[in-house]
Amino acid sequence: MTAELWRGARLVPMDGPEDRPCGDVRVADVRIVDGTIESIGLLAPRRGDVVRDASGLTMVPGFVQGHVHLCQTLFRGLADDRPLLRWLRECIWPLEARHDSESIRVSAELTVAELLRGGTTAVQAFETVRHTEVAAEVLADSGMAATFGNCLMDLSGDGVPASLAMPRDEALRHCDELRRAFHDRGRLRYAITPRFVLSCSEPLAREAADFARDHGLRVHTHACEHREEVAVVRARFGHDYLTVLDAQGLLGPHASLAHCVHLTEAELDLLAMCGAAVLHCPSANLKLGSGVAEITRLRELGVPVALGADGAPCNNRLSALTELRQAALLQCLAAEPGAWSAAEALWTATRGGALAIGLDDCGVLRAGASADFVLFDLEAPELGAHDDVIAKLVWSAAERHIRHVVVGGRRAVVDGELVGVDLRALAARARDALRRLR
Ligand code: GUN
Ligand code: ZN
Repeated sequence: MTAELWRGARLVPMDGPEDRPCGDVRVADVRIVDGTIESIGLLAPRRGDVVRDASGLTMVPGFVQGHVHLCQTLFRGLADDRPLLRWLRECIWPLEARHDSESIRVSAELTVAELLRGGTTAVQAFETVRHTEVAAEVLADSGMAATFGNCLMDLSGDGVPASLAMPRDEALRHCDELRRAFHDRGRLRYAITPRFVLSCSEPLAREAADFARDHGLRVHTHACEHREEVAVVRARFGHDYLTVLDAQGLLGPHASLAHCVHLTEAELDLLAMCGAAVLHCPSANLKLGSGVAEITRLRELGVPVALGADGAPCNNRLSALTELRQAALLQCLAAEPGAWSAAEALWTATRGGALAIGLDDCGVLRAGASADFVLFDLEAPELGAHDDVIAKLVWSAAERHIRHVVVGGRRAVVDGELVGVDLRALAARARDALRRLR
């Protein structure tokens, strides 16, 4: 049993009540044992403790991203300047169809490196139809808390290559293989992941919903992202998007829905009642021309919200700090400045996001929680001369202010450098993989 004592950091614990969600910002020591925070306070080192000086630094729980596609990271920069449906049809689906297990591995490794370097220590991952076991292995090796799933899509045509779609029976068998191999293994959890309403037949959607309920799995899908997509759903089904998902059995407190930019009043009511979470991807929503989600309104209705970068080809970053700032900026417009406070934004990027995707031991600095945290140097002059660390983190901080990242008790970033990753070699493998695919 190795113990580490991180001494003297200023903690932003994210354990406060609703009106003060960041909790009491204070200087304290944090003792971690076997990947878990054992105690927080003014602590004397015990024999055998590895002591790490964190004085002058600010400790925040690791960021939680509720919606990221590891499989798409290799395609960054290959799908710019298109709205959602053209982006999918012209670029993303054909590219996903060409993936092989090595290209998935490289794409997942690129993602994990970028996420950890940026302080993300928990993720909900939306993968492609095949080779998802490879992404799961990379996530397992990363030490992050990760919920992941293989994308379900059994309808081809309308831009979906036949080689990407997978028939229903085969898809459900594959879900079961992945569940048996990875669910609840270490920090991994398996989720049922239908792509969106337009990609799944009714029988597949319903059987997938039953499968999730039978096995106590979460459901992760896209919903109500772009006006054009929403119009196609209405034309095809004659109902609102969320009404369709509800009828298919996919909604409930175990579900999380990426985007939810275009909701009718009835859908807002349904969302508030069913307990599903919204995965807010502010940069992707802007880049694909989707719109601005009404996060302030959703929070007033009690809808759980997590943030996410979505895929690299629709962002083109995977940065928790970028999404945090972008989300906060957009609510100044969607509601008004101050309506969704910096404290609530930071809570959403950490503890709120963790709770929204069912990771009860993440996103918080408290005894018993996972030892996932980020140490920032917030003394840099460009962050201001004041002492409001929450304002600094939300509005001004960037990745260059991250000094160390700890994931499950392991140091993943030390003095701003990723540990154990040869980034040049990874970039070379990425170039090779992409050349082969294209
Ligand atoms: N809707 C269906 N598939 C996708 C995807 O891969 N990314 C985004 N942003 N929206 C989707
Ligand atoms: Zn997505």
